Amino acid sequence: MTVELEEKLTPLPYRVAFLPGDGIGPEVTNEALRLLRAIARLDPALSFETESFPWNADYFLENGTMMPSDGLQTLREFDAIFLGAVGDKRVPDHIALRQLIFAIRQGFDQYVNLRPVRLLRGAITPLAGKSTVDIDMVFVRENSEGEYCGIGSIQSPGLADEVALQTSVFSRKGVERVMRYAFELARIENRPLQSISKGNALNFTGVLWDRIFEEMCQEYPDVRAENLLVDAAAFHLVRNPERFGVVVASNLFGDILTDLGAALAGGLGFAASANLCPTKEFPSMFEPVHGSAPDIAGQGIANPIASLWAVGMMLAELGYPNWEEQIVSAIEQVLQIGSVRTPDLGGTSKSTEMTEAVISTLVAPNNARE
Ligand code: NAI
Ligand code: MG
Repeated sequence: MTVELEEKLTPLPYRVAFLPGDGIGPEVTNEALRLLRAIARLDPALSFETESFPWNADYFLENGTMMPSDGLQTLREFDAIFLGAVGDKRVPDHIALRQLIFAIRQGFDQYVNLRPVRLLRGAITPLAGKSTVDIDMVFVRENSEGEYCGIGSIQSPGLADEVALQTSVFSRKGVERVMRYAFELARIENRPLQSISKGNALNFTGVLWDRIFEEMCQEYPDVRAENLLVDAAAFHLVRNPERFGVVVASNLFGDILTDLGAALAGGLGFAASANLCPTKEFPSMFEPVHGSAPDIAGQGIANPIASLWAVGMMLAELGYPNWEEQIVSAIEQVLQIGSVRTPDLGGTSKSTEMTEAVISTLVAPNNARE
């Protein structure tokens, strides 16, 4: 009894590693931290110990690598990772992204990239006649193999007969596990499921993907599931977004379609994402979908919503889904009132003002509204 009581009074802090990165990365990371601290103040069950790691373009220019050789061992000790964004014109993108983001996603077996595409109340979609009930889906993007496995070569570089080879890896294990995650989610949330493929042209990888999809349909007869070609999916996302529920796609297709999704949901400033290691063997990583936005970096005007929502996704994964709901509804309230908006949303507010407005509508859990 006493032990239990003590545990409740002094909860163990969750350890969160922050990787601010480049450009607006550090700016939106600060906003994420601000929100996390505010939540720790409001919720006696939650406390956080945070540590920030300067693994970005400057680090690369000094050390010749995006993170130290024992970087993954260091991060492994944490309960969760928050990443701002990386990308700086002084370092080739394919090196920066692969040495940091892909190294963490693959090294920590974060095989699910969860990306909600949901039009929040108060946000504006470019689609005429579509509302919050129409644009509400979640992408389950394969995150550990597929087209982004990084295998290939460039033959005869720079010569007239130069050839680049890029291999896709689709393993039965890899496809099955991400599809199972999506089918489980569709079942729990009672949503239709779309599997995205290109089985008519990709006569090996696409065929395996589709075959495993058919097997899953047998296993989950209660899930309303359909198979869409990626090009048709792009068309339907614009024409009939209401058709989509849980969308499972390979690494490349998921990447492309979720940027389209971000546009439908009001812009990159709204797109949050979680790189999940569902077995929990390794920490998961949470990040806004957007990049380092060099065009607006240093001005304090980046839209922090994607990062704040990513904090919500982190709390949901740590076992506090109510906090994600509260954060999203606080963002909606701020958007609906409309007086605090960053320039990408047509306003003049700073990132910090937006975060403060969101924080000011949060309430302690025991006061939470029904
Ligand atoms: P980007 O997402 O950084 O920016 C695209 C456009 O959206 C820009 O006009 C930018 O100002 C705007 N934007 C993005 N996030 C915003 C926010 N929170 N608030 C207001 N406006 C926002 O994509 P871009 O320009 O293609 O790439 C810039 C760099 O970021 C590149 O080096 C790229 O490789 C990298 N990148 C990194 C990612 C990551 O760290 N996960 C993801 C995508 C790109
Ligand atoms: Mg992308």
